[in-house]
Amino acid sequence: MNCNHKELNAWVAEMAALCKPDAIHWCDGSQAEYDALCEKLVAAGTFIRLNPEKRPNSFLCRSNPADVARVEDRTFVCPKTQREAGPNNHWVDPAEMRATMTKLYDGSMRGRTMYVIPFSMGPVGSPIAHIGVELTDSAYVAVHMRIMTRIGQRVLDVLGPDGRFVRCLHSVGAPLAPGQQDVPWPCNPENRYITHFPEDLTIWSYGSGYGGNALLGKKCFALRIASTMARREGWLAEHMLILGLTSPEGVKRYICAAFPSACGKTNLAMLTPTLPGWKAECVGDDIAWMKFGPDGYLHAINPEAGFFGVAPGTSLRSNPNAMAACSRNTIFTNVALTDDGDVWWEDMTDEPPAHLIDWKGNDWTPDLGTKAAHPNARYTAPASQCPTIDPAWESPDGVPVSAILFGGRRPSTVPLVMESFDWTHGTFLGSTQASETTAAAAGSVGVLRFDPMAMLPFCGYHYADYFQHWLDLPASHPGAHMPRIYYVNWFRKADDGRFLWPGFGDNARVLKWIFGRLDGSLPAVDSPVGRLPRRQDLDTTGLHLDDEDLDELLSVNPAEWLKDLPAMRAHYAKFAPEMPQALTDQLDALEARLRAVL
Ligand code: GTP
Ligand code: SPV
Ligand code: MN
Repeated sequence: MNCNHKELNAWVAEMAALCKPDAIHWCDGSQAEYDALCEKLVAAGTFIRLNPEKRPNSFLCRSNPADVARVEDRTFVCPKTQREAGPNNHWVDPAEMRATMTKLYDGSMRGRTMYVIPFSMGPVGSPIAHIGVELTDSAYVAVHMRIMTRIGQRVLDVLGPDGRFVRCLHSVGAPLAPGQQDVPWPCNPENRYITHFPEDLTIWSYGSGYGGNALLGKKCFALRIASTMARREGWLAEHMLILGLTSPEGVKRYICAAFPSACGKTNLAMLTPTLPGWKAECVGDDIAWMKFGPDGYLHAINPEAGFFGVAPGTSLRSNPNAMAACSRNTIFTNVALTDDGDVWWEDMTDEPPAHLIDWKGNDWTPDLGTKAAHPNARYTAPASQCPTIDPAWESPDGVPVSAILFGGRRPSTVPLVMESFDWTHGTFLGSTQASETTAAAAGSVGVLRFDPMAMLPFCGYHYADYFQHWLDLPASHPGAHMPRIYYVNWFRKADDGRFLWPGFGDNARVLKWIFGRLDGSLPAVDSPVGRLPRRQDLDTTGLHLDDEDLDELLSVNPAEWLKDLPAMRAHYAKFAPEMPQALTDQLDALEARLRAVL
């Protein structure tokens, strides 16, 4: 490896002097290097090679049961002032945080190798892409970064002698004394810190080896740090999937959707439409970076190169494209192992196998009644393996976005789909987005919380400033063609607890209505909360949905919405006095419209 970037070399030397690894390994990103690291992980007992006839070149990994998800309460955003971080982030004075963490990092890589991973978020050299370098003492992280991002010498070549890069330091926080036997999943759950210094484009992560805590290109860089860059530079870094949809007439449009963690982004991104003639293609399943193009459209790239997807619930029926994507060259974390050396998780098949080794490494049979896979078990697979990957998914200029969807898990109140009146109202809908919590983050599951733009755990600055950034976008660019904004809810439930809407491939029916709105061929009906489809305009051909359920799905109950208003006001009050007037005005206007029809 050849690096002539003085600052980068100096930083690597400085961090190595602090963390004191036994060796330093610059990752070139080659297949040979990947294979050797995987072998090393097998030898260490971290990886189990899966049956090559079932799952070629794939591995199973079991984490420490105390290290299975993002840790939001241990995530910190540390600009100079607390005002800048906002009430939506945990803030500690940056000097104090650096002092605390420097003590932890001192000698934290003893007995281990420090991997130096230059990576590009986005196609290498794309004007929308950005570069980071992750230093990590985890080989698990190193092999993940090769799937999830673009790594190696080609990235250093683009960076040149003085290019800008985000400094990402990661340690599992488990130094080894001479001769000390390692464990399969080293980590330090008592001392976890996932820390961001946005003013210095620096991320310091300590104590966890899992997912978004450790793969620092993903949530830490591509969302928390990038959102602060995007605000300064007039673009967007969002927790959104990107999907290309082609109608039977051959018209293609790109749609982004912001749903909270484990609320359906991967599934929508890899949609198999149940409507004949419609085609969906996937650009990205988790993160979108958007910049205005010369045509005035927001152009989106997927900054990632792989999928870190939720395994449970994924099946040939619900998401055949994800099943194909993880059929080879894939790393599975915290799924169950079958007797023939393959993987299994809840709802992969109608009947569970008679015997498994569960995600904790114990014998499992269906009568135990426990989950064989952890609810946040994940597969890590190259995006190129998705059969419906979009031909333009690596286009350096990104794809033009026609619509943005917000949504989440709302068992009641929120209809299947509604259209915003305009950009400001759409921003309002995003700012009041709420969803039930999921297993993607440590903590309780199924609790309704506000999660504006699905960015609550990921917005790297004060939410009020973030909302203002959204409001300012149309005027920030002459001739801007803003996407239309929609709000969807696949998760409305009947009184008996079942989902009213079949979801998955049938979500194409909702996208068809949105398509009709975008090209002006379908009408909508104004309601106090937004524009709704007429019942006859939602294509339900071949769906055995009863009329009552459909009415419920498309209905808005003003009394129910009015009940939500005090919570919305309290939510906004958390960001006062900085909260934009345009949004509090929207809240007042909503209340007036609701009262007028009551
Ligand atoms: P992150 O990777 O955590 O950001 O999540 P994601 O938004 O990509 O979530 P994903 O698509 O993996 O969805 C996770 C869960 O939502 C799984 O349990 C799915 O079965 C369920 N799900 C996805 N789409 C639908 C749908 O249309 N209807 C219903 N009922 N469930 C869905
Ligand atoms: C999420 O939780 O939204 C994820 C998984 O996409 S992680 O990368 O662990 O954050
Ligand atoms: Mn996510």
